[in-house]
Amino acid sequence: MSSILQAFASLSAAGALLVSGALETAAPQNSDTSMLLLVNREWRISENYLPEVRVSDVPGQVRRLRREAAAALEAMFAAARKEAHVTLVSVSGYRDYGKQERIYGSKLKSVHGDEEAADEYVARPGTSEHQTGLTMDIGQSSGKDTLESGFGGTRGGRWCRENAWRFGFILRYDEGWEDITGYSFEPWHFRYVGVEHAARIHENEMPLEEYLKIIRTGILLDLVSARE
Ligand code: DAL
Ligand code: ZN
Repeated sequence: MSSILQAFASLSAAGALLVSGALETAAPQNSDTSMLLLVNREWRISENYLPEVRVSDVPGQVRRLRREAAAALEAMFAAARKEAHVTLVSVSGYRDYGKQERIYGSKLKSVHGDEEAADEYVARPGTSEHQTGLTMDIGQSSGKDTLESGFGGTRGGRWCRENAWRFGFILRYDEGWEDITGYSFEPWHFRYVGVEHAARIHENEMPLEEYLKIIRTGILLDLVSARE
């Protein structure tokens, strides 16, 4: 390779590194306070991460969520009652690291130590977005199909899929997204991201991971154009 070509090759390698580095850092998904904070198998959350949470005023159990998400959940459940005549209930909201550890441990026990089976639906401690305080597992007062894939076909489940975005929540683990999200279909698991992002995510029918790539690229392009 000529020295000019060599210089060009190393320049583009450096450019690519710079771009991927910037994409990694210029990202709201890294911020503890961002509604876009990303937690999954790859993006872990610290054991010491303790968001400020409050008990949501909705029926059900494990009702604590971050303030913004709690208010949105209350509005969402009230709308479900009015529009679909269904009483939604909280099944599991905020879980700290220790609680997730216990849940994963008992799941593992119930599948006789088969890690692959346990990992299908339950996050290991430090990888559950329930620890952000922005996630709620939703059921309905009849108890029908609670935490079962059949929940997606119930009146409450269908209403949540179509309407949760209006209150800032997204269906986090849809069918067909397993390779991206790392989890099987969970029609009950809703994540708060705020109305603006939820509307775009719902409209584009994409997992949070994909949406964040678009956001990050936008941030990067803005950075580059601001320097020109
Ligand atoms: N069920 C989800 C993946 C969790 O445990 O956070
Ligand atoms: Zn969940």
